[in-house]
Amino acid sequence: MATNETGKLKLMQGSRIIGWGAALPDKVITNQDFEGRLETNDAWITERTGIKERRYGGTTSSLAVEAAQKAIASAGLAPEDIGMLILSTTTPDKTVPATSSTVQAELGLSCGAFDLNAACAGFVYALVVGHNMIQSGLKNVLVIGSDTLSRITDQEDRATAVLFADGAGAVVLQASEDNAVLGWDLGVDGSLVPILYCEHGGYMRMEGREVFKRAVLAMVDSAHLALGRAGLTPDDIALVVPHQANIRIIEAANRRLGIPMERTSIVLDTTGNTSSGSIPLALAAAADKGALHPGDNVLFCGFGAGMTWASAVVRWDI
Ligand code: UT7
Repeated sequence: MATNETGKLKLMQGSRIIGWGAALPDKVITNQDFEGRLETNDAWITERTGIKERRYGGTTSSLAVEAAQKAIASAGLAPEDIGMLILSTTTPDKTVPATSSTVQAELGLSCGAFDLNAACAGFVYALVVGHNMIQSGLKNVLVIGSDTLSRITDQEDRATAVLFADGAGAVVLQASEDNAVLGWDLGVDGSLVPILYCEHGGYMRMEGREVFKRAVLAMVDSAHLALGRAGLTPDDIALVVPHQANIRIIEAANRRLGIPMERTSIVLDTTGNTSSGSIPLALAAAADKGALHPGDNVLFCGFGAGMTWASAVVRWDI
């Protein structure tokens, strides 16, 4: 680890993403699968959400482990190299302990680990926390977003059943002299808890139209703040990696930001809304198909229950 002139740990170093991974359960649920038992149809779901199919299965920890193993391998690291694990989830396997404990053991890590819950904005929150831990002296931080929303989704409620699903993604952040996390914004408006929540033992309850409206505003404002702090404009963004909730939310936010859909990673047509998993899944899909190049500025932008929002501008530096 680098030291400064006084011989102490060098603080305020930067970070960059050096590896990524994703995990989806095997079981595919198509829009047609809902048609027989709910008053809905493929045309409505496709037109109103952009979702065609989603995946159910696994546990939050099992999906997290699979995504993290891929991320650690793609970073060229071993488990002992990881200095901290941050697991973003809103569907922990157990109330106690944190799901990150299970994931830490299954990955064979020896570092600290904790869960972070900022709903669907959680992965970006975790990314920013990881970046700040690196600025405080850590070398490698594993950031995972994993959720199994199917467990808390009312399969009798057509307004939510067609949206929510399971999945995970992960990245490894590494200390870097040349900082690649250029700007970020984290926020919450706690007065909006009633528009999207899940009681213990209950199901997700949502005022969909209200969430939609607030989501677009929050994404746009937050993206502008993160961009401003990075000293960039929307024109400088090579790829937006937004929370994958509804294609119409993404289109509306992009329109207001002036970023064309061609510069946006979309996976929701095959994943549905996987909460913490959604942004890293969309990042992994873009990276896997070679859509990201060194020097590309990537805008991560999420929103969720709370109501939380989070944006980060990261230069792709692999
Ligand atoms: O991660 C954050 C979590 N949540 C979100 O991001 C969700 C944000 N909201 C949305 O994505 C959209 O509001 C929904 C997809 C949930 C709903 O789309 P909408 O265009 O806002 O529809 P709406 O709520 O205004 O409902 C229009 C109609 C209603 O019927 P009536 O009252 O006009 O007769 C709904 O009951 O559509 C009905 N509807 C459905 N119809 C067929 C609601 N869900 C369905 C469905 N199939 N699955």
